Amino acid sequence: MTTRIIPVDPFDLVIFGATGDLAARKLLPALFHRDRDGQIPDRARIVGCARSDLDDEGFRDLARAALEEHVDAEYRTGDALDRFLARLHYISIDVFGDKGWSPLRALLSEPEEARIRVFYLSVGPSLFGPIADALKTHGLADEARLVVEKPIGHDGDSAKELNDRIGAVFDESRVYRIDHYLGKETVQNLIALRFANALFEPLWNAKHIESVRITVAETLGVEDRASYYDKAGAMRDMVQNHLLQLLCLTAMEPPHHFEADALRDEKLKVLRALRPLSGTEALKASVRGQYAGYPEEAENPASTTETYVALKAEIGTWRWAGTPFYLRTGKKLRSRLSEIVVLFRQTPHQIFDDLATPVAPNSLVIRLQPDEAITLSITTKDPGPGGFRMRETPLDMSFTGKDEEGFRMPDAYERLVMDVVRGNQTLFMRRDEVAAAWAWIDPIMDAWREGGGKPEEYDRGSEGPMSAMELMIRDGRRWRSLAP
Ligand code: NDP
Ligand code: BG6
Repeated sequence: MTTRIIPVDPFDLVIFGATGDLAARKLLPALFHRDRDGQIPDRARIVGCARSDLDDEGFRDLARAALEEHVDAEYRTGDALDRFLARLHYISIDVFGDKGWSPLRALLSEPEEARIRVFYLSVGPSLFGPIADALKTHGLADEARLVVEKPIGHDGDSAKELNDRIGAVFDESRVYRIDHYLGKETVQNLIALRFANALFEPLWNAKHIESVRITVAETLGVEDRASYYDKAGAMRDMVQNHLLQLLCLTAMEPPHHFEADALRDEKLKVLRALRPLSGTEALKASVRGQYAGYPEEAENPASTTETYVALKAEIGTWRWAGTPFYLRTGKKLRSRLSEIVVLFRQTPHQIFDDLATPVAPNSLVIRLQPDEAITLSITTKDPGPGGFRMRETPLDMSFTGKDEEGFRMPDAYERLVMDVVRGNQTLFMRRDEVAAAWAWIDPIMDAWREGGGKPEEYDRGSEGPMSAMELMIRDGRRWRSLAP
């Protein structure tokens, strides 16, 4: 495997929320790896901002501790760590106050040469608007790019309000809405598989594909994010963004070019073509579950927040009418497994006699986690005499290079942060996509609320609630087991 590192232009990256969990676990490690691999130019700077009373050295100590915890020791050798830490600066700012903005402006105007300026909002969404306003007031927003984390609102109306407020300061071409699933290597591989090969496109439709099943199963619970999660739930936290993005990439028409708006136009068409689900239809096509003991963890005994969702989605287009897309995601499940299974239709006619083992339909499995892989299962003859016996043979089409010496699978954030610096919005959600996703999700959540029921409890470490199995059984189908 050849890894090609293309250095980016000099930049100043300001992280609001630099003392938080996401910065420690994802952003600083991602930036460290890009620096260690030689992608970040010498003059680039990373400026942490948060309320905590720290100076540059204090922030570097915090970052050192985060990197020691979240980056394997084999990568922290030589002067890599010190060189990275020297890039870090810190300015204490309470985004609701006036202090700190002038020093930030002074720091950012120090360099004489022009450089890319990025503000990364790694803070709760209630701070997105105030930060955008403050950046404008303090003359920092011109030409800068803004990165916002999910969730973008908690429904369509609040997302619109938020996007309007951000949009009043930053035009759409400078807004980067992160969905880190789009930065995952296999997700990009799905795009390559579909659009760099002639093989799949003729089969990629309802005539040949029986169903698509998208699973994002986690073993972790809500951990220490309960205060956020209890208000969000799996539908807002995972389905509205990550799962719908995976569905879009699987279902979209070929874009005319691998370029931001061309790709996002096609994803948007899929979201708009999702058959609306509301009222009893929504209740029939969806399942919500909650893992046993969740309310105690969330310190909310009456919590009806779902930690599991399963859905049957249909896309009303010529390509997909007749092929259901089943989605499921949940916490505290049997294993950590994220995959897209494209199940092809059975052969139209069985030519082999009764002695032959039944021919299983072909399937294409795009696995995102735990080990990134793409497998096409085909049926072949078992070698040797003894009748015409069939077997399912998996064709491993992954090229992760993980067996090669020195290979490290980059984290999604590495690619995404560098894409922001490069000014490439291809793997970021556009405003109208966010709106279209909410437009499909909102009526389902309304139906849940109006239906008055509550999520079905499921055992920790299980495959999820029974109703999710029944959702499939009703259609004569079964989920693949989550067994590792
Ligand atoms: P944390 O609560 O861990 O961090 C929040 C950060 O915001 C802290 O650095 C805090 O620092 C800072 N902050 C809070 N209030 C203010 C203020 N008034 N002025 C300036 N800074 C402030 O959150 P996370 O890191 O977990 O999440 C950040 C964002 O990323 C959220 O939008 C979240 O939804 C999203 N996200 C997080 C994921 C994760 O795995 N953690 C995954 C996907 C998205 P201080 O107290 O020092 O001010
Ligand atoms: C985040 C969600 O966006 O994605 C978390 O907020 C979830 O609840 C996480 O655990 C899953 O990401 P990954 O990359 O571990 O599958």
